[in-house]
Amino acid sequence: MISKVYLLIAVISLFNQFIYAGESKPVVITLSDIRLTFKLNKNGSPQYTVDFKNQPVIKPSLLGFHINDSTHLDKNFQIIKMDSSMVDVTWKPVWGEVSQIRNHYKQFTVHLIQNAKPSFLINIIFRVFEDGVGFRYEFPLQPHLTYFIVNDELTQFNLTGDHKTFWIPGDYDSNEYEYTTSRLSKVDNSKIKLISFGTRERSEPDKYAVQTPLMMKTDAGLYINIHEAALVNYPSMQLHVNKSAHSLTSDLVPDAIGNKAYLRTPAKTPWRTIIVSDKATDILASKMILNLNEPSTIKNTSWIKPMKYIGVWWELQTGLRSWTYSNHLDSLSEDGELVPHGHHGANTANVKRYIDFASKNDIPGLLVEGWNTGWEEWIFNWNGGHYDFVTPYPDFDVKAIESYAKKKDVQMIMHNETAADASTYDIQMDTAFQFMNKYGYKAVKTGYVGNIIPRGEHHDGQWMINHYIRSIEKASDHHIMIDIHEPVRPTGLSRTYPNFMACEAARGNEWHAFSTGNAVDHETILPFTRLMGGPMDYTPGIFKLRNYAKDHPERQMHSTLAKQLALYVTMYSPLQMAADLPENYEAHMDAFQFIKDVAVDWDDTKIVEAEPGDYITIARKEKGKNNWFVGTITDENSRTSTIPLSFLDAGKKYIAVIYGDGDNANWKNNPEAYKIEKYIVTNSSALKLKLAEGGGAAVSIMPATADQIKQLKVYP
Ligand code: NOJ
Ligand code: CA
Repeated sequence: MISKVYLLIAVISLFNQFIYAGESKPVVITLSDIRLTFKLNKNGSPQYTVDFKNQPVIKPSLLGFHINDSTHLDKNFQIIKMDSSMVDVTWKPVWGEVSQIRNHYKQFTVHLIQNAKPSFLINIIFRVFEDGVGFRYEFPLQPHLTYFIVNDELTQFNLTGDHKTFWIPGDYDSNEYEYTTSRLSKVDNSKIKLISFGTRERSEPDKYAVQTPLMMKTDAGLYINIHEAALVNYPSMQLHVNKSAHSLTSDLVPDAIGNKAYLRTPAKTPWRTIIVSDKATDILASKMILNLNEPSTIKNTSWIKPMKYIGVWWELQTGLRSWTYSNHLDSLSEDGELVPHGHHGANTANVKRYIDFASKNDIPGLLVEGWNTGWEEWIFNWNGGHYDFVTPYPDFDVKAIESYAKKKDVQMIMHNETAADASTYDIQMDTAFQFMNKYGYKAVKTGYVGNIIPRGEHHDGQWMINHYIRSIEKASDHHIMIDIHEPVRPTGLSRTYPNFMACEAARGNEWHAFSTGNAVDHETILPFTRLMGGPMDYTPGIFKLRNYAKDHPERQMHSTLAKQLALYVTMYSPLQMAADLPENYEAHMDAFQFIKDVAVDWDDTKIVEAEPGDYITIARKEKGKNNWFVGTITDENSRTSTIPLSFLDAGKKYIAVIYGDGDNANWKNNPEAYKIEKYIVTNSSALKLKLAEGGGAAVSIMPATADQIKQLKVYP
């Protein structure tokens, strides 16, 4: 690790404000194009602003808390002391979009005391990066504040106008919504149908609250992303939109009785993050959120391996087979035996068929869902979990599958659907992970569909935040990689827990199986929103784009086949599913070659071009190899993407295999038309790729052999 730490280089005038009551002199911290200004205003309220290239991004915005019902920590503060430092360090993630990450920031901490009786202490730590600002609150150990309740966090983000905003509603339990693109002042959840399960409706979110990461674009062309980093022991932050003032206020997800958080000093909040640039590509390239997380707590990480996987899964999503073994609870015969209905997906023969396909096609992993008892009780009740995570259905031979997978060199991925019964999973987890160790499972996909138990808790509340982390830590104790479905959206914690490979927390490709699907521009927004916090298990790679859902011929993917391939590059994840059925891949093995070839771990990433809601083009270099993969996608409009290959090694010849949309392709009427072309390219080539409406292109670029150089044309 190259490490340069510069300490205390702050200007002396920062420090001579010892116990300064009321309005303080502003402190200005600048790094590159970013400027942070902090002061206490005349009420003694902490206030900050953020500018980019001398243009305001965040206008004077207040900071503070409401705690213990009656205490307001938002004014009458005095500065006790301030300190600052600069850090410039480069670190290596266990896996990622790049193999080295520079963490370069100036830190400024202001220690405040409230001019009241009793007087409370609070510190605010700012980090100014080249691409934005992060800040967090600290409650130091102090005589009058030990265990306390947070009623509200009063952080403001006052914006400069009515920005274009990509938003989903601030549901406390789900991020699985389509994005609305509107002016900030048009945010209104009241017309959005809420996702709900079972007997109890989820609580109504605030009509004007949105989830983060929130992506905005100003009329002057600035891109602003607001989120949080290192969400630990605290609820998720949503943003309440004050429509007329164009301002946002933190809105913490409550617990079952309406409190937001329970803290004990010394305590700290997650970082609030503001990433800003005049280039959309910079937003996607930002590593600020990872940098604000703590380094890995896992010392030996050799067991953590990014991988592609297939699954006994899409056939369940599309209704061709089922998770359940029998038809209904009533089908339990008198002696309690399950009566098979004959279309259970996770049967040994079917699982072996998938193992064969994975093994033959160099796909390392296989997920099997519906292997354990309990699905009948759950699916027909939607009321908590009925799973023990160790009892297979009678037709799932766990031992035979273990040895077959081992023989064929395929890694089994466990599935634990907790049905949101997190309190029971807390008790079962240890046994569940021991079972995985015993039968050779290297990874687990957990799930939290439904209303959380403990009753009244929310997926995004403090209790569940701590539960997800317990599950990640427990998985790590057992050397298991984890992929969580229906969790809170991520905040960069995979830096601290590199076995936390991916999660869902957004509307995945699967919505095309069981609903009308996702908007055509969905995948051009996700990298600017949900993916800012970490990888998503989006499950790309559907090849049969129409007539796949049993009893629902009207459903179709809002994508072309080539776009499905491009997603392996544009939607970064170290755990990447090839989601379609083996038979649908076998019908297009020439196109499947891209999925076989594409990497899941990278030395380098170039964000070539991007505009939220419109298009994204990314090139990535495979870790430890001289292979590049390019993905380019568009929304409902066709476009031509120009990709200069200047990132290739000078003087070398490469073979580029272009998997593009067919000439008459479009997502609606001709989604499966694709064409594959091969050319010789060099670092002076520039690809010009025509993308269909709802289309895309994927390109693999590998060093060319002498034969290829002889046989293939040079790219025009
Ligand atoms: C929802 C998950 O997102 C999906 O992938 C899974 O198959 C089902 N829950 C069942 O657990
Ligand atoms: Ca668009």
